[in-house]
Amino acid sequence: MAGNWKMYKTPAETTQFFEKFRPLVERATHCEVVICPAFTSLFAAADAVKGSAIRIGAQNIAWAKEGAFTGEISGPMIQSTGATYTLVGHSERRQYFGETDKTVLDRTKAALSYALTPIVCVGERLEEREAGKTADVLATQIQNGIAPLLPGQFAAIVIAYEPVWAIGTGKTATPEIAADAHRTIRAQVLAAFGEEAAAAVRILYGGSVKPDNVKTLMAQPEIDGVLVGGASLDPVSFASIVNF
Ligand code: 13P
Repeated sequence: MAGNWKMYKTPAETTQFFEKFRPLVERATHCEVVICPAFTSLFAAADAVKGSAIRIGAQNIAWAKEGAFTGEISGPMIQSTGATYTLVGHSERRQYFGETDKTVLDRTKAALSYALTPIVCVGERLEEREAGKTADVLATQIQNGIAPLLPGQFAAIVIAYEPVWAIGTGKTATPEIAADAHRTIRAQVLAAFGEEAAAAVRILYGGSVKPDNVKTLMAQPEIDGVLVGGASLDPVSFASIVNF
């Protein structure tokens, strides 16, 4: 169960969140809990979860180890904060910051080489869904952004399906729509990496997940977890998602 805080919360607000959140998920041993704050709050977050099972992730990672890449943050830098996960290829990165399947692949490889678990995001835009292109879009994103990984690398990633039309809109994909897309993704994984890999990979659903819809989403056997934006900013709301 992962939370993506996007561009919200200062370090002080991060510390306050965890003071409330930590005790609420103390007994949540049924899942991994990951929070991805802004880079500037990674140290505060990693510090606040010390001694708990909560894990911290970045929201993006540079493909290079270091160099003249103004504004980028590298794997070793993320590692130094205590974070162990990173999002890669979130639709907001694809939409506003020119992220492509190629850069998604490069960033994913960088994460893996610094022992950070990448949560690689895929998903179609509204016009693509309406044109009946969802399966094609997912196939292309996976074939170009994920399938070139080595099998050993693939085994260490998590995939998140986030239909762009469901992000921050209050329009959740119905559990059936989400499950259907997850089956498409798993079929692509099967074609690229085989049956065992397809059965083992964790696929999260993201897009307007809230305390009141998490149960029906998680009831779909195809959905292994959720990636939550807005509802992860409030400790009570995200804890009730974790403890669905
Ligand atoms: P919302 O939960 O706010 O729709 O955001 C989803 C998301 O983009 C998580 O990465």
